[in-house]
Amino acid sequence: MTEQTGDNAAPEGPRYPDLVERIVNLAKRRGFIFPSAEIYGGFRSTYDYGPLGVLMLRNVKDAWWRSMVQLRDDVVGIDAAILSSPKIWEASGHLDNFTDPLVDCRNCHERWRADKIDGVCPNCGSKDLTEPRAFNLMFKTFAGPVEEDATVAYLRPETAQGMFVNFLNVVTTTRKKPPFGIAQVGKSFRNEITPQNFVFRTREFEQMEMEYFVPPDEADTWFQYWLEERMRWYLDLGIPESKLRLRHHESDELSHYSTATADVEFLFPWGWDELEGIANRTDFDLKAHAAKSGEKLEYFEQSTGERYVPYVIEPAAGATRTMMAFLLSAYDEDEVGGENRTVLHLDPRLAPYQVAVLPLSKKDELMPLARQVLGLLQPVAVCDFDTTQSIGRRYRRQDEVGTPYCVTVDFDSLQDGAVTVRDRDTTEQVRVPIEGLAEEIAGRLRR
Ligand code: GAP
Repeated sequence: MTEQTGDNAAPEGPRYPDLVERIVNLAKRRGFIFPSAEIYGGFRSTYDYGPLGVLMLRNVKDAWWRSMVQLRDDVVGIDAAILSSPKIWEASGHLDNFTDPLVDCRNCHERWRADKIDGVCPNCGSKDLTEPRAFNLMFKTFAGPVEEDATVAYLRPETAQGMFVNFLNVVTTTRKKPPFGIAQVGKSFRNEITPQNFVFRTREFEQMEMEYFVPPDEADTWFQYWLEERMRWYLDLGIPESKLRLRHHESDELSHYSTATADVEFLFPWGWDELEGIANRTDFDLKAHAAKSGEKLEYFEQSTGERYVPYVIEPAAGATRTMMAFLLSAYDEDEVGGENRTVLHLDPRLAPYQVAVLPLSKKDELMPLARQVLGLLQPVAVCDFDTTQSIGRRYRRQDEVGTPYCVTVDFDSLQDGAVTVRDRDTTEQVRVPIEGLAEEIAGRLRR
């Protein structure tokens, strides 16, 4: 496992100095991510996920769910409400503590996070800044038609509290005993002072969080365990080891609820930055909600008659931010047959399409067979069906969005009952009988 080296420098110079811009352009051009409300000039760093983006983001979330819930017998899922009672945020400490230090530049009137700018306005260079003041990041709204104190509600700034307030519901209904976890994937909202770097920091984003409830004396062991598990997840899905590290928080950096936190960091084009925080949240949240609600949020161990409040180890990742990291690390440009191509070397589990079925020509003779091949493959893979332009152009287009396999149906296919399967990374082409094609592709995708 890569531990923090202390410096903030890239191990090697970036291959594409303007990589973020290239990804932003590709994302827009190919339907991954659009600026939101674009026809009205956009809306404050919000983004819409297009046809390919929605597929890829779902793949990121599914890969997380599979590893955190499906392949385990100690973690269950929930989907809690986004709109939530102020009592939750009073108890959790978010109403008092979930703030960033805000400063105004007296010269150009831009607003900044004081902890990110070293006392100099990044816009105009002035040092004439106001004193920092605490700015709460939660979005406040009103539930119902009357805007008064009694109807105040908040959009959740993290999914985690949904797991704490449902602790008893889950224990009672599933009979899980510590160590066990509750996982959730969903939208969170923070009124970030400076959203930036495309979907890296936005006001509306998706999180993938799991609260792992453990006996207090096992907390350190499980903290270590989850650091390793989570690093493995990113590596397994194709983030290179040289671009991933763990950074342990200094004590003055810890959140109000945590005694130990480490960030999984990715080497973004602007330097190392956070993908996920893994925290020992102690018994802070369960105790805080127990005190406020009057409910006993404890675990009762029948075999020993012991009652205790579990500690919580929390791996908390961002789905949208992680999708950006996968795009950045998959991007490449190379030359194939004397022609330049852009290629996303995405893991097949993350690629929007796993297979593209391409009839060599739009002529009527090929279409029925091509559609038949598509029908055979759709149950085993997410497929695109592309009939436009030359076959070379179509290969390039599929490479650019990371489709691992292209299946070409040509005139020989009518005679020999076989198709050409082309590999995105090696560009190697092999002839495969249509009978058995679905198994062949499913096998390649499982590898
Ligand atoms: N429950 C703990 C928690 O929310 P966090 O470190 O504030 O911890 C977890 O958030 C992850 O959520 C971050 O590591 C990041 O990937 C993602 N995230 C947080 N704020 C974000 C934002 N404004 N835009 C995109 N992703 C964000």
